Amino acid sequence: MTELLTIGEISRRSGVAASALRFYEEKGLITSERAGTGHRRYPRPVLRRIAFIVFAQRIGLTLEEIGNELAKLPPHRAPTRRDWSRLSSTWTARIDRRIAELERLRAGLTECIGCGCLSLERCQLSNPGDWAARLGPGPRYWVADRPA
Ligand code: FES
Repeated sequence: MTELLTIGEISRRSGVAASALRFYEEKGLITSERAGTGHRRYPRPVLRRIAFIVFAQRIGLTLEEIGNELAKLPPHRAPTRRDWSRLSSTWTARIDRRIAELERLRAGLTECIGCGCLSLERCQLSNPGDWAARLGPGPRYWVADRPA
């Protein structure tokens, strides 16, 4: 028999506000049972799903994408290590892309990002005459392209 926890207990343990938990439930990302009083009761393994949701949001997945990922887990039992492993195997490329983006973001704080401002001394070297504008809108060296 799986231990059931109140929304307050789940909120405290997960660090996620009760309102966000209700929102996740509305979106079908987590499910609860109703006690005789009508209050939500969550099986303890829901904590792992919540951790997954929070992490997935941090790496940029939309709630819809998260829902699609969670739908791959077995609906009527706590997921096993193998279930989670199958899920995470599709994430590696995404996480790698996110790491690369964050590294560009960090480097871009002091470097020319090809945004068209031409406000740093380095812009004259990296983006003379706003050459980056030919690559498309936005901060081109931040988004993807690198200076020639
Ligand atoms: S930082 Fe804006 S064009 Fe160089």
